[in-house]
Amino acid sequence: MPEMRIIRSYIDREDSHTIESYMLAGGYTALAKALKLDPDEIINTIKESGLRGRGGAGFPTGVKWSFIDKESKKPIYLCCNADESEPGSFKDREIIEKDPHQMLEGIIICCYAVNARKSYIYIRGEMPRGAAILEHAIEEAHDKGFLGDNILGSGFGCEVIVFRGAGAYICGEETALLESIEGKNGEPRPKPPFPAQVGLFDCPTVVNNVETLACVPHIINRGAEWFSSIGTPKNTGTKIYGLSGSINRPGLYELPLGTTIRELIYEYGGGISGGREVKAISPGGSSSAFLTKDDLDLPLDFDTMAKAGTMLGTAGVTVIDDRTSLARVAQNLAHFYRDESCGQCVQCREGTWWLEKMFTKILEGKGKMEYLDTILDACSQMRGTTICALADGCAMPIESIVRKFRPEIEEHIRLGKCPFGSEDLGDWDG
Ligand SMILES: Cc1cc2nc3c(=O)[nH]c(=O)nc-3n(C[C@H](O)[C@H](O)[C@H](O)COP(=O)(O)O)c2cc1C
Ligand code: SF4
Repeated sequence: MPEMRIIRSYIDREDSHTIESYMLAGGYTALAKALKLDPDEIINTIKESGLRGRGGAGFPTGVKWSFIDKESKKPIYLCCNADESEPGSFKDREIIEKDPHQMLEGIIICCYAVNARKSYIYIRGEMPRGAAILEHAIEEAHDKGFLGDNILGSGFGCEVIVFRGAGAYICGEETALLESIEGKNGEPRPKPPFPAQVGLFDCPTVVNNVETLACVPHIINRGAEWFSSIGTPKNTGTKIYGLSGSINRPGLYELPLGTTIRELIYEYGGGISGGREVKAISPGGSSSAFLTKDDLDLPLDFDTMAKAGTMLGTAGVTVIDDRTSLARVAQNLAHFYRDESCGQCVQCREGTWWLEKMFTKILEGKGKMEYLDTILDACSQMRGTTICALADGCAMPIESIVRKFRPEIEEHIRLGKCPFGSEDLGDWDG
């Protein structure tokens, strides 16, 4: 097991969210160290560590920071993405509530490295507790001189503002997040230009995930080489895997990147609940394509998952057992994405609606075999054709269900009812 703990080993302490608790474990020593370094040295260290974004896409963090024009005449911003609304993902909330200073220290170091004087933490509206904890942590950091003007006598100063969203999944997409902070509807912007060039209020902006920023103090304190020695050569460091679904011990497990699905499920998660078997695995939040039980020995890292036709995404791993209806899973997913689509793109607005409609018909016993090819056709038209990746996030898992588990869906259609007795249509309002 690596020594690095993003969710610290003393997290069970009731006061783990306080600055006293954080400083007892060496908190804010990385900030003091960073403020004595040249900002470019920090960016190079982050590049050399191989840290890749933990928000979904796995983009190299140091490279992202190096895109910022530090001499810009405009203000530079950092937005910490704490929206975490992806079904199956619940790692950021734990960092926010149990160890907020860790991400805060990462935020301040990033601000110094890219010359940002203001940072926003965009937190999901349904996390009032997290928002209150963050507000309190910011006050504590101010009182200790880690925020405000002239931090630790360095001459550098910055402020952090908590911005609460209103509960839309799409506001986790980085450009929708920027629109939302600007007071507009949370609708993604076409890219390019990317936020590093034209971001918040048209100014250069870094957008990073909570877990990404929480890694930064560890890298500054212990070095790039230490971080890159964990995991695999191009997938370095630890990752917080969120394990849920039909599992005996669901929860968060911080492990080296590249831990296999089998190890995660059986060694850490205690195996499948109810003595059942694995049927399908969603490896990276609800937007990732499903894997099958034949993939159990694949390492959970960005590159292996991409090669397997899916993605590591948020590493929210959901296990589906052999008695769960995948037609029901597909209908549920389509319902979610249809509800959350911002509606700007026809392929997404109409595609998610049709996918939900067809799977609902199947669940109602009114499905037709020809729907399956129509579903695949709709999915292929939704992929890579829209302003943001929400449409892909709906198409990928559904396409994988139809391609990899077609006989089960066909049986559902043939029988005119669920082979597993799952007739509940949830909150379908079609
Ligand atoms: C529909 C959609 C929702 C997203 N939601 C989140 C989110 O809740 N949190 C997050 O960090 N990234 C989310 N992302 C990814 C962000 O757009 C962005 O890539 C990420 O915040 C960058 O941070 P990182 O480089 O540290 O990973 C989402 C993307 C899409 C397309
Ligand atoms: S893909 Fe969907 S959510 Fe994204 S911009 Fe287009 S309509 Fe909006």
